[in-house]
Amino acid sequence: MISPRSIIAGCGSFLPGKIVTNDDLAKQIDTSDSWIKERTGIHQRHIAVEGETSATMGTQAALKAMEAAKVTASDIDLIIVATTTPDQIFPSTATRIQSALKVKQGAAFDIQAVCSGFVYALAVADNFIKCGQSKTALVIGSDTMSRILDWQDRATCVLFGDGAGAVVVRASNTENGNGRGVISTHLYSDGDFGDILYVDGGVSTGAIGKIRMAGSEVFRHAVQKMSNSVQQALDGNELTVDDIDILIPHQANVRILDAVAKKLGIPQEKVMITVADHANTSAASIPLAMDVAVREGRIKEGDLVVIEALGGGLTWGTALIRW
Ligand code: ACO
Repeated sequence: MISPRSIIAGCGSFLPGKIVTNDDLAKQIDTSDSWIKERTGIHQRHIAVEGETSATMGTQAALKAMEAAKVTASDIDLIIVATTTPDQIFPSTATRIQSALKVKQGAAFDIQAVCSGFVYALAVADNFIKCGQSKTALVIGSDTMSRILDWQDRATCVLFGDGAGAVVVRASNTENGNGRGVISTHLYSDGDFGDILYVDGGVSTGAIGKIRMAGSEVFRHAVQKMSNSVQQALDGNELTVDDIDILIPHQANVRILDAVAKKLGIPQEKVMITVADHANTSAASIPLAMDVAVREGRIKEGDLVVIEALGGGLTWGTALIRW
């Protein structure tokens, strides 16, 4: 029996209305627009206001993805939310979104791989679809990183923003799929690097905590591990860098994106970059960038779309998608 392929049937995203510019931050901490732009490529970030949460933002992004995919709540049989900033310890953000969307069937759960969360969630959904356990899945990345930032730590607070992105993934088969869909996913982690990017608190250890980071070490691992994982994914499918139509990386820092593209030998025009406007939205960054790419007409049917990310853990990974 031929396994079904996981086709991305629609994308959606949501950004809070409140925009905080670098100049706004420079009024509160010792930083400047020029330092932030030069070191990170970030110009502004969207920040959630009271009442906006990972669940509310994820719901809005999901509704848009469902509309784009022309599916209704009765079609959805799986909801996976990648988030590091759930509304509550439990129930999961996924079940909150399930209720808000009035989805009455199937399973809903969260996964936590920080900035790699969307790649991990897509990999899980793809495996559910391949083994026939799901036909129409919602994969959502939603994070409210502003709520775990130390707003006095200029080395981290300038880097992040809030938002959500979602995709509807539908099962197809080779007869009606024409080779479209997720080709393969490649996930990695190495817990030995857990202390270079972490939150200094948690449920079983005490107070909620704030993000702490050894920036230059994270930078080095990000460039090396993301470019290696893309190359391994291509090699595993007998594809080359020239076959890539668009690379949609996790949007951490424009210098990381440039360095990965350079290491792989991918021209700039094939790399989707939204970090200037969104900053680093953690698990939301790839589906947000993907939605922008679709709306800008940068992806057409049959294109080879590559997504890649690295996040706390360390976790990292790549997915190859024939659009
Ligand atoms: N404004 C002004 N100065 C600052 C700021 C700021 N916002 N932040 C740090 N500085 C200062 C530092 O204090 C330091 O000053 P000093 O020399 O007097 O000690 C100086 O700038 C240089 O600091 P570095 O940390 O060496 O600067 P670097 O060039 O490494 O840039 C950065 C820092 C942007 C954090 C970089 O290391 C980076 O991008 N790392 C990757 C981190 C990342 O993206 N993390 C996100 C999560 S992981 C992921 O998504 C992949």
